[in-house]
Amino acid sequence: MIQLHNPSDRTLYEHALGFARRQLRALIDRDPDLFPMYTLQGRWRHSGECWTNWCEGFLPGMLWIIAAREPDDAAGQWWREQAIRYTQPLELRQFDRAVHDLGFLFMPTYYRWRHLTGDPRLREVLIEAGRTLAMRFREKGAYLYSFLGENSLFIDIMMNVGIIFYAALETRDSKLMDIALRHCLTTRRVLVRGDGSTAHEGLFDTETGAFLGQSTQQGWRNDSCWSRGLAWALYGFGTAYRCTRDARMLETAEACAAFFIERTPADGVPPWDYDAPAERQALRDSSAASAAASGLLQLAHLASDRIRSRHYEAAARRILSTLSRSYLAEGDPHWEGVLKGGVYHVAKNLGVNESVMWGEYFFLEALDLVLREGD
Ligand code: GLY
Repeated sequence: MIQLHNPSDRTLYEHALGFARRQLRALIDRDPDLFPMYTLQGRWRHSGECWTNWCEGFLPGMLWIIAAREPDDAAGQWWREQAIRYTQPLELRQFDRAVHDLGFLFMPTYYRWRHLTGDPRLREVLIEAGRTLAMRFREKGAYLYSFLGENSLFIDIMMNVGIIFYAALETRDSKLMDIALRHCLTTRRVLVRGDGSTAHEGLFDTETGAFLGQSTQQGWRNDSCWSRGLAWALYGFGTAYRCTRDARMLETAEACAAFFIERTPADGVPPWDYDAPAERQALRDSSAASAAASGLLQLAHLASDRIRSRHYEAAARRILSTLSRSYLAEGDPHWEGVLKGGVYHVAKNLGVNESVMWGEYFFLEALDLVLREGD
């Protein structure tokens, strides 16, 4: 179980954010306009396989997080220019029907940009991206299908369905709202188990819409709990609750959070899969930890009482303190990432025990949130 943590580690968090700022600056100077996904022995530039194109929003997303913290001076201007420069190439992906990842692409980027500037043109891009993602909805089965095919539902889509909720709320489109909510309810029914653990993938009969069973791509086994998938669920169902106020969404997010807190080691960094055999559990995933930290901070705001809220915040602080103390790549001058110990895809041997862009992004998001909240 995660050892809960209340004391302020403000200096530690500020230090971690400062290190991230330096690593990002070095990446932009060394490899301008590269959109990396995971490191290979600590290097961002390599020709390793991507599996799918879902990560291009995370680097510009981090630039927006830093830009928003900067004063309105020349340095701040530089970060804002870089954020725009790395965000604009994504614009056409509002029409991308090949992936289920439009939330990962547009919420860290156009959503943050819109939030910072209020530019109405950016709202249109976000709405269009939400409409595009909604086209993946299958009436038979009632889910948004994954990039792998129409019979496949991923837990990861819980992190993307938020952009459909956004488009629905902005345009008051009840059809979009219905699609997003029904997707969440199906995911809750078929991928979230009674103990709050999650399956990575669900398979359906496309003729009838019947649910056939749980499966996995990135986890250990079909019936195991891949920790990043669990983190996506606890964060994504929280977002669904924020957008709908449907009590079933909060209940599901809290069940996933309870499993995460109970089953993760005291330092807050989970094994890459909770059910992997003992000798393979030594491999932890710092990116699951950072996504969970951010999701727990969101849940701390949504929880219905103060005790739960403090519980989630304390778990998030434990994770951030461990990541800032023991996972920063600071001691290794050749390592180009921020956080060590991320895991992308064990079965394909991609980005195993490396830095991964989403791990960096959610780490910065969570650090920014705790620092803004104060002590
Ligand atoms: N496929 C998204 C992830 O690796 O979490």
